[in-house]
Amino acid sequence: MDREPIAAVKDKAHWLTERVEAALESGEIDEAEWHRQVAEVITPAYLAADTPWGQSGKMGDEDGWNYARSLICDAIDGDGSFLDVGCANGFLMECMKRWAVERGLRVQPYGLDISPELVELARERLPNWAGRIYTGNVMTWRAAQRFDFVRTGLEYAPSRRRRDLARRILDDLVAEGGRLIVGTYHGEGVGPDSLEREMESWGFAVAGHTSRPHRDDRLVYRVLWIDA
Ligand SMILES: C[S@@+](CC[C@H](N)C(=O)[O-])C[C@H]1O[C@@H](n2cnc3c(N)ncnc32)[C@H](O)[C@@H]1O
Repeated sequence: MDREPIAAVKDKAHWLTERVEAALESGEIDEAEWHRQVAEVITPAYLAADTPWGQSGKMGDEDGWNYARSLICDAIDGDGSFLDVGCANGFLMECMKRWAVERGLRVQPYGLDISPELVELARERLPNWAGRIYTGNVMTWRAAQRFDFVRTGLEYAPSRRRRDLARRILDDLVAEGGRLIVGTYHGEGVGPDSLEREMESWGFAVAGHTSRPHRDDRLVYRVLWIDA
């Protein structure tokens, strides 16, 4: 039986990624339009979902969400503030607080999302944290404070700007002694994977990584981190 192409398993929205990347490279669109088109597709899909994890872009059931996301906690090595870049409906913010408590840690979650509609939903769901959930593009957002832990996906910027995305988070958003956390993402194998090698080739020192088996045996769920 033919297996699903690995690009499709890694990135369920790979058709969108390919389309906007090609349009950017050909000069048909600029970076602002790249971000706009990504948000334009993601927002209605997340808003139409009927589960909290679906509203954060994860298909499947709650156990699948917990399995695929709770390994982010492996990157948390102490109490502190935690910014979820691309927080969608804020579900990861809530879960990170709970998962951290289960490990004897206290995190104060904050959220940032480029989609105003998703930020509105997150603020409605989490009224006590409404003042900590911001609208903005991580590439340009000016924060009023720094955070001990900042989680992001590198796919929130065009391929050619991913190094800049990591650099700007480390320079402008992570507190001194804090940590940039990348993931979860779909990596390969148990050692350093291609993203980890790529980040090292950009001059970042990857301080740690964690992984969990994926249902597709060609992949693993991965998280890596870089200390500021
Ligand atoms: C897959 S969801 C992530 C949900 C949750 N944080 C998690 O890790 O499972 C990605 C979110 O990132 C947001 N996003 C994409 N590009 C962004 C950018 N440049 N700045 C801020 N948010 C962005 C999208 O609107 C979307 O809500």
